[in-house]
Amino acid sequence: ARPVIIDCDPGHDDAIAILLAVASPSIDLLAVTTCFGNCAVEDATRNALQILDLAGASHIPVAAGAAGPLSGETTLGNYVHGGSGLDGPELPEPSRDALPESAGELLARLLEAAEHPVTLVVIGPMTNIGALVRSRPDLIDRIAEIVFMGGSTERGNHTPAAEFNTFADPEALDIVLHSGIAVRMVGLNLTHQALATPEVVARMRAQQHTIGQTAAAWMGFFGSSYHRVWDFEAPPVHDPCTIAALIEPELITWVDAFVAVELRGEWTRGATLVDLHRRYPEHAPNARVAIALDAARYWDLVLGALDDLGRR
Ligand code: BDR
Ligand code: CA
Repeated sequence: ARPVIIDCDPGHDDAIAILLAVASPSIDLLAVTTCFGNCAVEDATRNALQILDLAGASHIPVAAGAAGPLSGETTLGNYVHGGSGLDGPELPEPSRDALPESAGELLARLLEAAEHPVTLVVIGPMTNIGALVRSRPDLIDRIAEIVFMGGSTERGNHTPAAEFNTFADPEALDIVLHSGIAVRMVGLNLTHQALATPEVVARMRAQQHTIGQTAAAWMGFFGSSYHRVWDFEAPPVHDPCTIAALIEPELITWVDAFVAVELRGEWTRGATLVDLHRRYPEHAPNARVAIALDAARYWDLVLGALDDLGRR
């Protein structure tokens, strides 16, 4: 199985991503590290512990990371994910605390110790990883690849130009894009194809266990936010697309492209620019960019994983 660390800000879609990873035999989930984003980092950390308890994976280490970005102001997404960052069904108190070490310390320790290079899945702001790459460039060759949810080949959601995760810490993403580490980008252009339609939510609800019921209730809260804020009929379940990309890469069509992130624009800070048609030869591809999703197979994968976990 492929060694993976998930760096996240759970978050309803982060929660489904964690469950999918825990359920998948092809993924060896070494740790979950947390970051500010959908909520304050303390809330993201408690939510990660609760999600792992729900998944029956309370042995997976959790460490708390950044409370704010490398530079600029802290942006939070409670307007989408609620006051707790994971509003909706009531979950039991976490069975344990996070580790005393920071996300950065845990990442460094696991990368140093790993027998094989580790895949980092980043589904919140890039802060923890940007800080690590900057402070520990010696660990870069211990990273197999970084698969991140963020940006878009098109426009944004948090601002007209920028997607939330890339808006929240563009400098950290810029560090990663210049690091030479293999990067796969799963942006809004892809994740807006991963809609939890009423049929999908009904399939969750039909699962006769706590995991299916909880996932359906999360989609209810997340869906009402998406309806209120963006007038979506069904919520896009962004973050599990990164895990699906590890389990079944053929679910997604990829294009190698040059990706940059805007650091300065008056209206465009945090926007990603993707040279999909490789018009500018001076900009060599630095990322593999997700373009098209086989949504039917995606939901079969996610729902099958939730059901497997729920029956364990
Ligand atoms: C991203 O921001 C958060 O709301 C989601 O968890 C996802 O990672 C989508 O823009
Ligand atoms: Ca997220």
